[in-house]
Amino acid sequence: MSAPTPFYHTTVLLQEATNALAIRPDGVYVDATFGGGGHSRRILEQLGPSGKLIAFDQDADAWRNTPEDSRLIQVPENFRYLKRFLRLHGVPKVDGILADLGVSSWQFDTGERGFSTRFDGPLDMRMDQRGGATAAQIIKDFPEADLHQMFEQYGEVRNARQLARHLVSVRQKSPLTTVQDLRAAVSPVIKGRPDKYFAQLFQALRIEVNEELAVLKEFLQQTPDCLHPGGRLSVISFHSLEDRLVKRFIRWGRFEEQSLEAQLSPLPEAPAPLKAVYAKPIEPTEAELHQNPRSRSARLRVAERIDA
Ligand SMILES: C[S@@+](CC[C@H](N)C(=O)[O-])C[C@H]1O[C@@H](n2cnc3c(N)ncnc32)[C@H](O)[C@@H]1O
Repeated sequence: MSAPTPFYHTTVLLQEATNALAIRPDGVYVDATFGGGGHSRRILEQLGPSGKLIAFDQDADAWRNTPEDSRLIQVPENFRYLKRFLRLHGVPKVDGILADLGVSSWQFDTGERGFSTRFDGPLDMRMDQRGGATAAQIIKDFPEADLHQMFEQYGEVRNARQLARHLVSVRQKSPLTTVQDLRAAVSPVIKGRPDKYFAQLFQALRIEVNEELAVLKEFLQQTPDCLHPGGRLSVISFHSLEDRLVKRFIRWGRFEEQSLEAQLSPLPEAPAPLKAVYAKPIEPTEAELHQNPRSRSARLRVAERIDA
């Protein structure tokens, strides 16, 4: 196996997320978010010669880290197409699926990708640069009401309405195409600590650009059909919007709270296809937090496919 590209990414909850898969040496596993390949390498170490790992990543840069290993199948696509690509590779059902959501350190620390407020660069933020709207296009084209909703729902920005109105007035005078353009444009309306404000604003844009919540829902809904009974799902999320979706899907098999009508109905609800392996999410240890402060918001949830 070749060494990974240096400094691509420090893997979070490495032991916890891979141990949770209860890997069988001859099993077939999915790493939905290959990134720097840290989780994938650990899975491959635990697989025997007949085991297989199918790894997804929609970012071409991630494949710089590909180990030479005939047991690895690379899928350079969005994990929202999980079922389609598993079928294509002749393995409609697998023994375990791991997803480590969000961006890699490489994506975050590469100024030209536009994910970080710390560097100047184009306002891009697409994980998959083959298509789709960039952050600059969203800021340019979204109606004020949609900008408002995006900042409020995805960034929990305190003055989302004021921010949206302000950006609409600024963009009429000059285009906002770089990280520094956006920082400068926003500075008159910042509320609270600027670093926190920018982090929330950038989170909202990133979620919108990559449709992160819609994609996560589509992915989660496909997982029960793609797992053998007893197969495990191991998902690491980095903010409460994602974690809530994962938690609800594992608990109820859907993303909404049960309606009052359903609660009062005498008909029993269909059982959820997954069951939680741990009641509470697993968080990084003090040692991991010390070694990798970026792991601080990570939450791992693990579920098992119940017999259909
Ligand atoms: C946090 S990193 C994964 C790091 C990896 N577990 C490791 O140990 O190195 C997330 C990766 O998932 C990819 N990714 C995020 N959302 C994706 C999606 N919807 N489809 C495919 N890849 C995705 C990103 O491009 C990024 O490379």
